[in-house]
Amino acid sequence: MRLTVIGTGYLGATHAACMAELGHEVLGVDVEPDRIAALRSGRLPFYEPGLDELVAKHVASGRLRFTTSYQEAAAFADVHFCCVGTPQRADGDGADLRYVDAVVETLAPFLERPAIVVGKSTVPVGTAARLSARLAELAPAGAAARIAWNPEFLREGYAVEDTLRPDRLVFGIDPAAPGTEAVLREVYATPLAEGVPVVVTDFPTAELVKTAANAFLATKISFINAMAEVCEATDADVTELSRALSFDTRIGGRFLNAGVGFGGGCLPKDIRAFRARAEELGAGRALAFLGEVDAINLRRRDRVVALAEELCGGEVTGRRVAVWGAAFKPESDDIRDSPALDVAARLRRRGAQVSVHDPRALDNARKRYPELDYATGALAAAQGADLVVHLTEWAEYRTLDPHAVAEVVSAPRLIDGRNALDAPSWRAAGWTVRPLGRP
Ligand code: UGA
Repeated sequence: MRLTVIGTGYLGATHAACMAELGHEVLGVDVEPDRIAALRSGRLPFYEPGLDELVAKHVASGRLRFTTSYQEAAAFADVHFCCVGTPQRADGDGADLRYVDAVVETLAPFLERPAIVVGKSTVPVGTAARLSARLAELAPAGAAARIAWNPEFLREGYAVEDTLRPDRLVFGIDPAAPGTEAVLREVYATPLAEGVPVVVTDFPTAELVKTAANAFLATKISFINAMAEVCEATDADVTELSRALSFDTRIGGRFLNAGVGFGGGCLPKDIRAFRARAEELGAGRALAFLGEVDAINLRRRDRVVALAEELCGGEVTGRRVAVWGAAFKPESDDIRDSPALDVAARLRRRGAQVSVHDPRALDNARKRYPELDYATGALAAAQGADLVVHLTEWAEYRTLDPHAVAEVVSAPRLIDGRNALDAPSWRAAGWTVRPLGRP
C-alpha cells in the first residue's frame, strides 16, 4: 500500500520505517526542513535502538521517502497517519492540540479523492469526532475524507519491536464509514496474520484505551513508590515487597520498580491531560486520584534532594555532586520531564556543583540545562565528588567497579535513585549507600 506518515518524531519516524519494513511504500511528512533533510540521508535526529538501521535500509530500498509538502502527500496516498505530538499546554494541564489540528487543516484542502486520516497521536477523548467533522468540511472530497483512530502504545527504547509486533491493535472506526476497518486490516496484514489481537471499536473508546493504559502504568509506578514512602517510615524494603507482590499474577512485577519515578514525554503529561479532560466532561471525580499519582511521583524527586542534603551534612551548597543519568530512562536520549535532570537542576539551584554523565543524552541535556557541568564518562563525573547520585539505570552503571569509583571521589557516598545497583558490593567497597524505600 501507499501510506503517508505525518510528523517524524519518535512516533512518526518509527511508524514510517516500520510500515516500509512491512512492505508498504511510505512518504514521511514534516514541517521541519532540517529534520526531513537528515531523514532523507538516512540520519535520525534522536537515538532509538535499531531505528537508524531501519530508516537507512528503506531509504536505500526506495520504499521510504520524505517531504515537507502536504500537497505531495495528498497526491501520493489515500491513507495518512497523523503522528504529531500533543504536549502539555503552556497555560495548564490539558493537551495542546495545535499540531494535530494543523495536520487536518493543512492536509484537508488537498484531499480530492476518498481518503482516510488515521490518528495515532495521544489525544483527549472527543478529538476524533471533532476532527472528523472538520475534515469533511474542508476536504474537496467532503464526507469521503474519513478519520480513523489507531492509538500507539510503543515504548521508547523498544519502539521498532513494539511497532512491528505490538501487544494489540486498536481501531477506532466511524460507524458511518465501516470500510475504514478493512483498510486498516490491510495496512496491518502482517502482524494480524501473526496473531496480534485487534479491538475494533468506536472513536471515544479507542481514544480512551490509550490514555487509560498510560494512566494505569503511571498508577502502578506511583503505587509502588507510595509503598516506598511507607517502607521508609518503617525500615521495610520496597524491592523485597515488590518482588513478593510480583508472584501474584494478578498484580505482576512489571512497572513495579520503586525509584525516583516516571518522566518522559508521555506518562506525566498524559495523566494531567486525562484528568483535565475528565473535568471538562463533568467526570473529574473519577480521575481525581491521578492528581495523587502525579504528586507521589514528584515527591520522589523531593526525597532524593532531601537525601542528598542529609548525606552532605545538611546542605549541598559548595558540594560536588555527580549525577549518573540524564535521559528519562535507559536506551533513550529523551530528556523530556527527566527525573534525573530535574533533581540535578534542583541540586544546582541549592548551590551544589553538579557534574552529569549519560551515555546518550548529553547533547540534549546541555541545551536544556546549560548551567550544569557535563562529563563524558561515569568516572569523570565522579572525580572529586562528595556524593554520587544514580538516577537513570543504564546498564553500564551496573558494571562499574565500586573500588575504582571510590578511588576518584572525595567521599564514597551514593544515592541509588533507581534501586538498580548492587548495594552490598558498594558497601563492601566502603561506600555509604542510600537506596529509595530500603533501609
Ligand atoms: C510510555 C508507555 O509505556 C508506552 O506504552 C506508551 O506508548 C508511551 O508512553 C506513549 O504514550 O507514547 P515511554 O514514555 O517510552 O512509554 O516510557 P516507559 O517505559 O513507560 O517509562 C516511563 C517512565 O517510568 C520512565 O521514566 C521509567 O524510568 C519509569 N518507570 C518505569 C519506573 O519508574 N518504574 C517502573 O517500574 C517502570
